[in-house]
Amino acid sequence: MTTPSFPGLPQTDQVLSGRRVLALGPALGQLAAGPLAGAVVETAGLERMIGVSGADADLILIDADAWGAPALAAAVQALTLCPSPPPVLLMGAHLPTAVVRNLLRLERSDVLDAPFAPEHLAMAIAALLAQKPAQPAAPPQPQDVARCWAVIGAVGGSGATTLAIEIANQLCGRQAKEKSVCLIDLNLVDGSASAYLGANPMLRPAELAAAADKLDPSMLQAFVTPVTKQLDLLAAARDPSAFDAAPREAILRMLEVACESYDWVILDMPRHRRPWTLEALGGCDEMLVVSELTVPALLAARSLSDEIDRDLGGGQKPKIVLNRLASRMFGPAPSMAEAERALQRKAEAGVSSDWEAAAASVNLGGPIATHRPKSKIVKDVQALVDKLATEAEQRTVKAA
Ligand SMILES: Nc1ncnc2c1ncn2[C@@H]1O[C@H](COP(=O)(O)OP(=O)(O)O)[C@@H](O)[C@H]1O
Ligand SMILES: [Mg+2]
Repeated sequence: MTTPSFPGLPQTDQVLSGRRVLALGPALGQLAAGPLAGAVVETAGLERMIGVSGADADLILIDADAWGAPALAAAVQALTLCPSPPPVLLMGAHLPTAVVRNLLRLERSDVLDAPFAPEHLAMAIAALLAQKPAQPAAPPQPQDVARCWAVIGAVGGSGATTLAIEIANQLCGRQAKEKSVCLIDLNLVDGSASAYLGANPMLRPAELAAAADKLDPSMLQAFVTPVTKQLDLLAAARDPSAFDAAPREAILRMLEVACESYDWVILDMPRHRRPWTLEALGGCDEMLVVSELTVPALLAARSLSDEIDRDLGGGQKPKIVLNRLASRMFGPAPSMAEAERALQRKAEAGVSSDWEAAAASVNLGGPIATHRPKSKIVKDVQALVDKLATEAEQRTVKAA
């Protein structure tokens, strides 16, 4: 961001007098002598956002041009999890969609496109400081923006699509509202979620790209396949050129609108990184890396989690789910403890192997929970969803 000079700036010093302003980005330090005069200014890096609360600062200013989009999105997301976060003003010449989407979850926030006139900065600050924080008693439901979980396979065939479907289906069981969960198959070229569900894929990447600028919740419905009363699917038919047909902006806009339209959004992510992968993950509340219990898959899971962790920079870390846990009677498969040693971290959960149930459900079309409700897969996924959803609800209550 090029920081403008501030002669003749409207007096913000009355509004700012004695207020604590957290200025994130080296260029913002210069504002202390100009538009932030009178305030107690602390300049810091993005890591300062973790755990920050209304008690630490009265206002946070962020220079969006000082960091990459994934790091920013993760930092803003960390802020959404904080109890009573201070108001946030995001400034920059390039305001990434995923970051703005996370920012929308904050009760008091605004964006300012650079270059901007000093008066605009003063007005934005004054407006933010004038807003009162909401009453803590306000119930957190219904959400304005969906909770979004991503599921990504460490290797092909590890069960990412199977688990994404079961997770989405379990979440439906927790909702009273119709159309509350959306499963999005981002494997646009050869996704299998629609085939596993026996559903007709309706997402047409070229049309999505053409409509991206004006895409809104009602337009999104033209690409959605209703699967059950509560579950909708966004998936494309097989097409080798589908990734080229839908550019980054179109995919991110689709995710943004989906998150405005549903309570829960589950992403079945492609394993290979696309131009939008990090931003999509940066906007998620949970990232689940699915691995099977073979040594190559475990090593791939470890590398993939490390890559995501490194490139996303701070905030949320991927969690590993071990799929197809089998009895040792069937061969020298690693145990859960051995797997965790290979992974060099704890796994979030394990899901049992049940080939009959998995095959029956894809052959009949629909979740395993529908066709084989007694399968151990269903029980294990339910335990995983209960754990993650409970944690998410606790975070929301804490933040309210
Ligand atoms: N827990 C499980 N037990 C038995 N079979 C499973 C299990 N999870 C997945 N499968 C089967 O493994 C195969 C690959 O699963 P899939 O979900 O398509 O993997 P991915 O999306 O990671 O490529 C499918 O035939 C699926 O039915
Ligand atoms: Mg898949």
